[in-house]
Amino acid sequence: MAVHLERVQETLFKAREEVGKVIIGQKEIIDRSFIAIFTGHHALIEGVPGVAKTLLVRTLAKVLGCPFSRIQFTPDLMPSDITGINVFNLQKGEFILVKGPVFTTFLLADEINRAPAKTQSALLQAMQEKRVSIDGETHALSPNFTVFATQNPIEYEGTYPLPEAQKDRFMFKVSMDYPAKEEEMLLAKSSLGSAPPETLLDQDAVRTVVNEKDLSAFREALLKVTLKEELAAYAVEIVRATREHESLLVGAGPRATQALLLSSRAHALLKGRDFATPDDVKAMTAPVLGHRLVMRPEFEIEELTIKEVIQQILETVAVPR
Ligand SMILES: Nc1ncnc2c1ncn2[C@@H]1O[C@H](COP(=O)(O)OP(=O)(O)OP(=O)(O)O)[C@@H](O)[C@H]1O
Ligand SMILES: [Mg+2]
Repeated sequence: MAVHLERVQETLFKAREEVGKVIIGQKEIIDRSFIAIFTGHHALIEGVPGVAKTLLVRTLAKVLGCPFSRIQFTPDLMPSDITGINVFNLQKGEFILVKGPVFTTFLLADEINRAPAKTQSALLQAMQEKRVSIDGETHALSPNFTVFATQNPIEYEGTYPLPEAQKDRFMFKVSMDYPAKEEEMLLAKSSLGSAPPETLLDQDAVRTVVNEKDLSAFREALLKVTLKEELAAYAVEIVRATREHESLLVGAGPRATQALLLSSRAHALLKGRDFATPDDVKAMTAPVLGHRLVMRPEFEIEELTIKEVIQQILETVAVPR
């Protein structure tokens, strides 16, 4: 294994350990978060209140040692609250740019479905282009600009669900579930003591193991994870099958193929390998494709059903040997 790749792997393992000091359980979610970050992508985190969505992102920011900011989305949030605004400075007699929260590296967009479409699209455009334009002038964002957006499925009604086209910009949608019983017991115990998990963040018990420069280098190193052509073809077949499936109205686009390949490589690394296997692709299929697919109206729009469709697809596409 190339030196570089080993270092990325070591760092990933260390980062995983540090996040695990604060976040009890949720191992799969933590891994997927790292995959999104280390491949330079964005993630959508869905879960009911109190499953530590916000705490997870705060913890990731600490471990990654990157500039971090947070936007709480509300119905009255304006696009300029996200990107920034030129303000006239009376003393200087000129306009100066007051930068918005997108001028950061790691951004938590909390409860993204509570702001209207216009505001959401200001963020989504920044995510895609890694730049924003303010009063006709273009400003570059950090090359590592990464957004983790949270949404709460219970509050869906009366809010502004992300348009399908916008969801495509997120590599993953990860769903945070209630903790398992043993994990909830651990959580209960830690809360009985004087220190609930989040206090660890402030006490410097959590170490920063990556910096911003590392992230760019790691992203390049990831491309050294071997992914054979047959395996790429397998990923393509899976994505294409979503466009032909009888119960799907909208299948996944080419961004999904790219995301599937890249995330499979990162997944391999997290599993301690320097080459990807069909199992990596299979593991990444549901998180990469799930939020991009739309059921036909005559079929029910339920998470479970989309999952079943993906399962069917995985059973029909021939696995390379
Ligand atoms: N798996 C967990 N590990 C550690 N702490 C947890 C976990 N699950 C819940 N908690 C506790 O629950 C609290 C609530 O977490 P947080 O505010 O991040 O939830 P949330 O998912 O963002 O909720 P909301 O949807 O209401 O914003 C945390 O501060 C922490 O004390
Ligand atoms: Mg929250």
